[in-house]
Amino acid sequence: MSKAPLHQPLAHDSAALYVTGAAPFVDDKAMPEGCLSIALGLSPCAHGTIKTLDLSKVEASAGVVRVLTVADVDGVNDASPIMGDDPIFAEEIVHYHGQVLFAVVAHTAKQARVAAQKAQVDIAPLPAILTIDEALEQNQLLAPPKVIETGDVNKALQNAPHRLSGVMSIGGQEHFYLEGQGACAVPDEAGAMQIFASTQHPTEVQHKVADALGVPFHQIRVDVRRMGGAFGGKESQANMPALIAAIAARKTGQATKLILDRDEDMMVTGKRHDFKISYEVGFDDTGRLLGLEVVQASRCGMSFDLSAAIAGRAMMHAENCYFIPDVKITSKMCRTNTPSNTAFRGFGGPQGMVAMERIIDEVAHYLSCDPMQVRARNFYAAMGSDEAGQLTPYGQPVKDSIIAGLCDRLMGTADYHTRVKEIVDFNAKNQWQKRGIALTPVKFGISFNKTMLNQAGALVHVYTDGSVHLNHGGTEMGQGLFTKIRQICAYGFGIGPEAVKITATSTDKVPNTSATAASSGTDLNGMATANAVAAIRTRMAEHIAQLHDAKPEDVRFEEGQLHIGSTSLSFAKAANLCWQGRVSLSATGYYATPDIHWDEEDGKGAPFYYFAYGAAVSEVILDVLTGESRVLRADILHDVGHSINPAIDKGQIEGGFVQGMGWLTTEELVYGTDGRLQTHAPSTYKIPACSDRPKEMHIALYDSGGNPSETIHRSKAVGEPPFMLAMSVHGALSHALQSLGRAYPNLQAPATAEQVLRVITAMSGSNS
Ligand code: MTE
Ligand code: MOS
Repeated sequence: MSKAPLHQPLAHDSAALYVTGAAPFVDDKAMPEGCLSIALGLSPCAHGTIKTLDLSKVEASAGVVRVLTVADVDGVNDASPIMGDDPIFAEEIVHYHGQVLFAVVAHTAKQARVAAQKAQVDIAPLPAILTIDEALEQNQLLAPPKVIETGDVNKALQNAPHRLSGVMSIGGQEHFYLEGQGACAVPDEAGAMQIFASTQHPTEVQHKVADALGVPFHQIRVDVRRMGGAFGGKESQANMPALIAAIAARKTGQATKLILDRDEDMMVTGKRHDFKISYEVGFDDTGRLLGLEVVQASRCGMSFDLSAAIAGRAMMHAENCYFIPDVKITSKMCRTNTPSNTAFRGFGGPQGMVAMERIIDEVAHYLSCDPMQVRARNFYAAMGSDEAGQLTPYGQPVKDSIIAGLCDRLMGTADYHTRVKEIVDFNAKNQWQKRGIALTPVKFGISFNKTMLNQAGALVHVYTDGSVHLNHGGTEMGQGLFTKIRQICAYGFGIGPEAVKITATSTDKVPNTSATAASSGTDLNGMATANAVAAIRTRMAEHIAQLHDAKPEDVRFEEGQLHIGSTSLSFAKAANLCWQGRVSLSATGYYATPDIHWDEEDGKGAPFYYFAYGAAVSEVILDVLTGESRVLRADILHDVGHSINPAIDKGQIEGGFVQGMGWLTTEELVYGTDGRLQTHAPSTYKIPACSDRPKEMHIALYDSGGNPSETIHRSKAVGEPPFMLAMSVHGALSHALQSLGRAYPNLQAPATAEQVLRVITAMSGSNS
């Protein structure tokens, strides 16, 4: 039986709208007449006490309708996702450069911006802590250090034949979603309000707006049709613009809109956490890892935001694909006077893993062997083997590892060993250009680490013409979630995808949702949708069977038809007959991930339903005189289980890889000594351009026979895991640098041209 449109490479359901510019984003929303615009007044100081905030000139400025400060917040002055520590408007103390002090509401955006510049602000500076090192020195942590530990690491390190230790700095990253942060608020009758937001988490925006206005949740409806990219940056930090738009709408009685411009967006909102990871590893002559101690210090910024969960995921990915018997991982969350760092694709996992891959690289360098030898020596035992089920440091058995086989396959198709030889040869002959190659594996845990969040809902209506309307709790940010959900629904009813329409995610359609995050959008909402579809199908089958004197199990839904023995009728006809027979054609569906648990106190449990695996081989060339580099070729083999949509999955893999490449090479965030972000525009902050995509790129889906866990149609999550495939680019740069001398190249991240040149200089110093 055909499973179409499942497993088909259907185009993204908004593809045509995206490329013609017809897909509306928040700023394109047609607003009611008289809609007001909002601009923000920001702190010019990283830490200090507000002495004067004189807004009289702002109020008097042309076109200004209202100026808002903390005094205008009737309810709770908080934009934070969890801890209540992110004031919407600063109160007495400012905690970072760019923190919101006030907002101006005016007839036009320009009037609001001009007025915002007229504020007279006097802030008495307090000492500001800006970096991880300063925070560690002054013991400025958000919470006491956390530890995940297994075995006896001190003993293991003492007994190990060899030991290495080091420190790796890992930079942060700006999300650089194409659509910046923004929201519109439209007052409705009797104090209700509708919000159009660019958020991954409509329910949280609903809650925060209700709390700030001091009204019950049911007064607030949040709508999200699509985001122009989010990448984690709109999981919690979309709250602020929505809150300010809502407060402005409440105070003026008018519709309002707040759209941050790029510079503001980059200065005001948080980013990927930068990390400093120190390690000590013990191993034997064969490269077997015997013990590992890791201390992960992360720059969290001025408040918690999602840092505890992000630092937690970094800890849970510190060992990547490798079984190490004795491990201790300590996490220190540094409080700094910088924007509160937040979720970003991989959610701490990339930072944890890139340090592990560097450790492998260093061990191989020490033993003078190919890093793949060290990797293969330590991979978690393969699924189905006698040793399968080795425990992670946090106590979860790894039963589904396919990483060894996947890497073997990739080494073959990418011609790894031959190319290593060619590169050694090339480097021997070329003084000013060096090439390097690396294969790095990825194992990424799928599920929110907070068990409670792993639930979802859907709402499906079948109309009497056979067309279907669907809502689910997930949000579309370009990742193709809506397209996949549509395929799942269409398959369930045996109809074409064009018969299914999905409209904006809305808090009044599917309530109490989790953020669309942790790559679990399709896993959760796809299953909830399938459950709703099954409920309606069962009712339809019962009724149609009754009309035909047949049994419900004899009714098949296929190719737009219902087949009952030798008779067939169209899905539309069947729907109409059900309506005539007073059978409900509408259902909700619900899903909660089974079999997962996590003990936060102990740092133990099985928080992930399964793991996603992949690997990449990257080859780079670098210029010894300038430090500049390019990726010449990337070969990727990635496991998505039984793909629901291979075109979309490949798109996610390609995009994730290139975004990861940017993080590890050209994207560098620089804060001045005054705590001001100096790289707040694309002129100084370098994301990869089209021309930076590897010239040669091969992406293949690994045929693993489907997810062994019972996910929706045995697929695997794909949103975040491929991001970490880019670790191979960093490894390849390290490999290229190793041809310059005997010392281990102490390459940090990002490996900008300046960073590479620093390593080259240090190496030539130590080797000559
Ligand atoms: N892809 C696009 N095009 N845009 C995005 O913003 N976000 C990523 C990933 N892929 C993102 C993306 C992140 S951080 C996550 S968690 C997942 O998509 C979320 O969607 P999913 O759970 O449906 O995969
Ligand atoms: Mo993705 S960082 O989980 O939004």
